[in-house]
Amino acid sequence: MIRLAVLISGRGSNMIRLAKAIKDYEIAAKITVVISNRRCTGITLAQNCGLATKVIKRKDFNTQAEHEAAIAAAIHYHRSTYVFLAGYMAILSGDFVNQFAGRIINIHPSLLPKYKGLNTHKRALMNKEKYSGCTVHYVNSRLDSGKIILQKRVKISKNETEKTLTRKILIQEHKLYPKAISKIFNL
Ligand code: GAR
Repeated sequence: MIRLAVLISGRGSNMIRLAKAIKDYEIAAKITVVISNRRCTGITLAQNCGLATKVIKRKDFNTQAEHEAAIAAAIHYHRSTYVFLAGYMAILSGDFVNQFAGRIINIHPSLLPKYKGLNTHKRALMNKEKYSGCTVHYVNSRLDSGKIILQKRVKISKNETEKTLTRKILIQEHKLYPKAISKIFNL
């Protein structure tokens, strides 16, 4: 059984999709804990699904290292071997990433290596891109730069707005992340 910890910061829609795919497709995996750095909708959704949750806020620790040590402790406590980031909006340190080398995966709303970081849709529209999309990738110590696992391209229409593009790409994210689980674990 593959044991996944999922880290979130907000809405949690990708986390819910992962949970649903694991259940529906009978993937031999289990979400052991959903960890958030803030109290958020995703935590409530996870609780409603019967998943274990933990809110670990940065402000409750003096340093980032102490905050990340608490996150790592929760991951280990739940005997999770993989860490899936699903809208976790804080940059993890190299030390944290190295502890789970090759076992942290992220979903990012752009066609990496284009548009690393924040406001991806806004920047793609400003640059009049014809396509954008989403990427599932391994996390390394450089922001949004690890090896790409899967990508889905989405066409930007003529009168696309940030809102419509966000929605279009999120629909694809919800398909891509479960697919990536099958690919990573050869399921
Ligand atoms: C998703 O679009 C995800 O790709 C993005 O945050 C959103 C979270 O939505 N992640 C990043 O931008 C990471 N840099 P969700 O909470 O509904 O899954």
